[in-house]
Amino acid sequence: MDPNSPILFFDSGVGGLSVLAPTRLLLPNAPVVYAADSAGFPYGKRSEAEIASRVPALLGRLVERFQPRLAVIACNTASTIALDHVRSALDLPVVGTVPAIKPAAELSASRVIGVLGTEATVRQPYVDDLAASFAADCTIIRHGSPGLVELAEAKLAGAEISVEAVRAATQPMFDAPGGDRIDTVVLACTHFPLLQEELGQAFPKVSYVDGGPGIARRIAWLTREQPWPQEPAGGIIVYTSADGERPLMSVLARYGLTEVKTL
Ligand code: DGL
Repeated sequence: MDPNSPILFFDSGVGGLSVLAPTRLLLPNAPVVYAADSAGFPYGKRSEAEIASRVPALLGRLVERFQPRLAVIACNTASTIALDHVRSALDLPVVGTVPAIKPAAELSASRVIGVLGTEATVRQPYVDDLAASFAADCTIIRHGSPGLVELAEAKLAGAEISVEAVRAATQPMFDAPGGDRIDTVVLACTHFPLLQEELGQAFPKVSYVDGGPGIARRIAWLTREQPWPQEPAGGIIVYTSADGERPLMSVLARYGLTEVKTL
């Protein structure tokens, strides 16, 4: 194993940074390539067929170019739809990101859990299976919010995000039948932990479950016997389109990403 072989993170946009951050805490010297499919963003509005063909093809190109040791699909939409396709197309370990319904069920006292994701994620049978396996005695209220995805992108691009805007994009989940009894919310889109501060201010009485730290532990475990560089090196962010709204370089630097490339 080449110590410089990176971990590849993949998302439609900035969401995967919420998985990269806890991974860097555990593996500070890990070389990182972060791919944002800016040409395909937002995934939440795409069809299952589009995601299932697009994601494995892009990951194939990224793996060929950057020779990662492991790939992380740091996106719930892509993982709940295309994880199996990607695993069968690639010859390396692939870690997915799926809604953290199990830890939410362990936490909820009211037994009413909100699953906040993209429109595409919340309609996946994968979510039904997680609910049936780990939260059979809970009521699961799902809400797909493209507005929150846009707010997270805008925040990292340097815009001022109001708590009111975050509240308005999330409120329908609490207004759904039984929604007033939600005490635990699964952040089932990797963009949403980036808004945790605003969500906490808008709805302070509920607990939020972010799968990121658990995924970071899984990455560290899978690579536990592998060599790393002696020093942290600057990571690379790769976009699939040449233009569009992008996170600030100063923000990316906080995640160790210093070099920009286009696929
Ligand atoms: N970050 C993504 C997720 O976890 C997708 C957001 C989008 O592109 O709609 O689902």
